Amino acid sequence: MAKIPGETKGGAFENTLAGVVNGPSTNLADRKSDCTSGFKKRNVNHRFLTLAFLSFFLAPCCFPAEPATISLPNPKKTGGTSLEEALAARRSVRAYTEQTLTLAEVGQLLWAAQGITSPDGKRTAPSAMHRYPLELAVVAQNVDGLPSGAYRYVPAKHTLELLIAAKPGAQLLAGSTSQAQVHSAPVVFVVAAVYERMGSGANNRTWTDYEAGLASENLLLEAVALKLGAVVTGGIDPASVKEAVKLTASEQVIVVIPVGHPAK
Ligand SMILES: Cc1cc2nc3c(=O)[nH]c(=O)nc-3n(C[C@H](O)[C@H](O)[C@H](O)COP(=O)(O)O)c2cc1C
Repeated sequence: MAKIPGETKGGAFENTLAGVVNGPSTNLADRKSDCTSGFKKRNVNHRFLTLAFLSFFLAPCCFPAEPATISLPNPKKTGGTSLEEALAARRSVRAYTEQTLTLAEVGQLLWAAQGITSPDGKRTAPSAMHRYPLELAVVAQNVDGLPSGAYRYVPAKHTLELLIAAKPGAQLLAGSTSQAQVHSAPVVFVVAAVYERMGSGANNRTWTDYEAGLASENLLLEAVALKLGAVVTGGIDPASVKEAVKLTASEQVIVVIPVGHPAK
C-alpha cells in the first residue's frame, strides 16, 4: 500500500488511496471492512436523502411564504384636514425622505381611492353604471408591516392579496420608467382597469379613464390629509408595469402614483 508522507495510517485519504492503488482487498478482514464501509456509505446516502426529503417538505412550515392575504387596518372616517385645506395644499411631490409608510397609511390611501362606503358595495369614487372597472395594485418598496412586493387591493374585504413577492430593496418597477420618484418612493400605487367591464358602448374607454382620474384625485387628496406627497405619473411603460406586478391579461395599467414623505 502506498504510504503518503505525513498521513497517519488509516486516515481517510490513505484508505481512499489504498483502494485506488491496490484494488478491492482479498483479505477477509479487509473485505469485512469494505462491507462495513459500503454499509456506512449507503447509510450516509440514506440519511442524506431523508434530510433532503424532509427539508423539501418541511421548509415551507419552518420558513412560511409571504401571507397571501393581508388585512388592512380599518380606515379613518375623520381627520384633522378639511377638504378645502387639502385642495389648497395639493401639489405634485416628486422627492421623498427615506421614512417608511405604515400599513395603515397604505390602507387609508387605497380606501380613499376605491374603498367601499355603503352596504350595497358603492365606493368613495363614482362609477358609470356602477360597473367598477378599476383595479388598484400597490408596490411596497419600504412599508412598515408590508413585505416588499406587489399586492392587489380587494375593496370588498379591505385587504391586500399578494401578486408577487420581492426581496427587500428590489425594484419591481425598475424597467417600467426612468422617473426617479417611482424608484425612490416607499410605495407606488398602480391604477389599472378592465375596460371590458364597462361594456362595449362608444364611451366605455373614456368613462373608465375618467374613473381612473376620480380615484387618483381621491388618493392625492388623502395623501395631503396624511401629510404625504404624491404625483400622478403617466410617463411609464404600461405593459412593463403590468408584467412587473403580475396583473392579469385583461387588466390595463393607466398610471402609477408614487407616495412618500415629502423631502423639504
Ligand atoms: C395624467 C397625468 C399624467 C402625469 N404624468 C406625470 C409624469 O409622468 N411625471 C411627472 O413628474 N408628473 C406627471 N404628472 C403631474 C403633472 O406634471 C402635474 O400635475 C402638473 O405639473 C401640475 O402640477 P401640480 O400637480 O403640482 O398642480 C401627470 C399628471 C397627470 C394628470
